[in-house]
Amino acid sequence: MSESRETPTSQKITLAAIGDLHVTEASEHRYRDLFAEIAEVADVLALCGDLTNFGKTREAEILAEDLRACTIPIVGVLGNHDYECGQPEEVARILHAAGVTILGEQAVIIHDVGFAGVKGFLGGFGRGELGAFGEPPIKAFVDAALDEARKLENALRSLKTERCVAVLHYAPVADTVVGEPLEIYPFLGCSRLADAIDRFDHVAAVVHGHAHRGTYRGATPRGAPVYNCAQMVVEAAEGRPYALIEV
Ligand SMILES: [Fe+2]
Ligand SMILES: [Fe+2]
Repeated sequence: MSESRETPTSQKITLAAIGDLHVTEASEHRYRDLFAEIAEVADVLALCGDLTNFGKTREAEILAEDLRACTIPIVGVLGNHDYECGQPEEVARILHAAGVTILGEQAVIIHDVGFAGVKGFLGGFGRGELGAFGEPPIKAFVDAALDEARKLENALRSLKTERCVAVLHYAPVADTVVGEPLEIYPFLGCSRLADAIDRFDHVAAVVHGHAHRGTYRGATPRGAPVYNCAQMVVEAAEGRPYALIEV
């Protein structure tokens, strides 16, 4: 049974969303002006993972420095690249100290809009989704995907706002990975994330990254709008590297 949808009464906000910054140790000040610009045109910024290239401490510090130019509230999730050095907690800690709310089990409400987010995981879409069958490593892999979907569902359920936004790194639908080689679709996301989103009627937008050559706009099976906010995708579609979405 879905949660009931009420007529929105509170004012809409402008959400900026960007993912796949892939900040390296050579990226000092690369995004400072961009974040200042975003603060001028949006009410909230969502970061969709792969914020650093390898999850190095210095990379996170360089990004944190630039984020200080962003004077609006910032929420975000990490991506697979932020895990590469084996210290995602350290990346999260540095970004948190720069004012970013890293989403996970805990959702937040900003300007009457709820924000729930997880990194998500891979595993494929629709009939192509990997099932928990056979060898233990396959079951562990599918468990990781289910765990992310469960966290997202719990966070969305905790939000009693009229509208909310789901922030992900991996794609919840195949729509927004179109453009990538078909062979790698199963590594770009999984439908279990969309299943969690579609249990609710109050999800006004879903933003994700990870599929650098994907498609900007799509939708979940029940119609929640999905935006691939990998900066390369948004740049190609909108002529600027960040999405602007009325929520
Ligand atoms: Fe990426
Ligand atoms: Fe990624």
